[in-house]
Amino acid sequence: MNDQFLRACRGEEVDYTPVWIMRQAGRYLPEYQKVRSKVDFLTLCKTPDLAAEVSLQPVDVLGVDAAILFSDILIPVEAMGLKLHFYEKKGPVLDNPVRDRKSVEKLVEIEPEEDVPFVMDTIKILRKELEGRVPLIGFSGAPFTLATYIIEGGGSKNYLNTKRMMYQNPQLFNDLMQRITQNVISYLSAQIDAGAQAVQLFDSWVGILSPVDYENHVFPHIKSAVKILGNKGVPIIYFVNNCAGMLDMAKKVGSDVIGIDWRIDMSRAVKRIGKKVSVQGNLDPCALFMPRERIREAAADVLNKASSARGHIFNLGHGILPETPVDNARALVDAVHELSRR
Ligand code: CP3
Repeated sequence: MNDQFLRACRGEEVDYTPVWIMRQAGRYLPEYQKVRSKVDFLTLCKTPDLAAEVSLQPVDVLGVDAAILFSDILIPVEAMGLKLHFYEKKGPVLDNPVRDRKSVEKLVEIEPEEDVPFVMDTIKILRKELEGRVPLIGFSGAPFTLATYIIEGGGSKNYLNTKRMMYQNPQLFNDLMQRITQNVISYLSAQIDAGAQAVQLFDSWVGILSPVDYENHVFPHIKSAVKILGNKGVPIIYFVNNCAGMLDMAKKVGSDVIGIDWRIDMSRAVKRIGKKVSVQGNLDPCALFMPRERIREAAADVLNKASSARGHIFNLGHGILPETPVDNARALVDAVHELSRR
């Protein structure tokens, strides 16, 4: 198996810098569109054969060094008791958002094998299909990012309901975070038991918080989750979107890797993170709209700036956009492999 990704996660020597792309299975790929034209998004997530098929597409088409489970961060949230809808062009919507004690207490403690068996089935298919090829990454939303969806009932601009609960009823917010964290732990443990060889926690919206709120209301939860999951023996990646304000704390969470967005210079991020944790990132997803030659230069710049990190997994600083030309994504993967060959 190509184990460059796992080696970089652990800070071991590599032959070249491994690369994968957040949201690499998705709408920018014609192969994905073809599968998706026959089923809606949630059906795709819940049909293991199809979910496995689209997970494999970027491995075949782009030549990335890791596959990621095809699913969504909101799948376990539905299992917690909030009905989930994906409306075209509107993004996810959850019925009955949770804003009071009664609704917090109604949230279900999930049993992954019973409540979301299709996730574990997809992982098992993928491990067979990927044998001798690349490792499989499992994932979950991080507790805070899931809390925003659970409280807001969907995406949000100012996250006012979330912050209102945090400021007006911190005890309730804490209880909610604790319940979510417990579910994230059991969900990721089940993915690892089913065969996930690394797991990523997506903290996509944590960057809306002030550093002090992050420290008081989020850090203790994510830290306890990473501590427990760390005992499962697979690398843990903590993706912190908009991380600049909280990097000094995020590095203390205990993950093997910190995922960095593109708004911070990678060399400054590496300096702040130090030598105990590997880094992942951090090219601006829009850089894939540059001319091919400039993409190569931009990749070289990130590689260079991450060169003193304990380990580096090349990635975009957030998910690939649906409008991205596939050839440019492939050119990026090739450039990273060529430029970083030791
Ligand atoms: O990385 C991968 O290729 C694995 C698949 C994956 C998806 N969602 C598929 C998806 C992963 C890892 C996610 C995570 C996810 N989902 C996050 C965290 C990552 C991030 O980008 O910050 C978040 C915030 C979500 C919630 C979500 N799912 C939103 C806001 C949307 C709608 C936005 C949009 O682009 O339409 C989704 C839908 C979604 N998740 C799609 C895919 C391929 C598009 C669905 C479609 O086919 O129409």
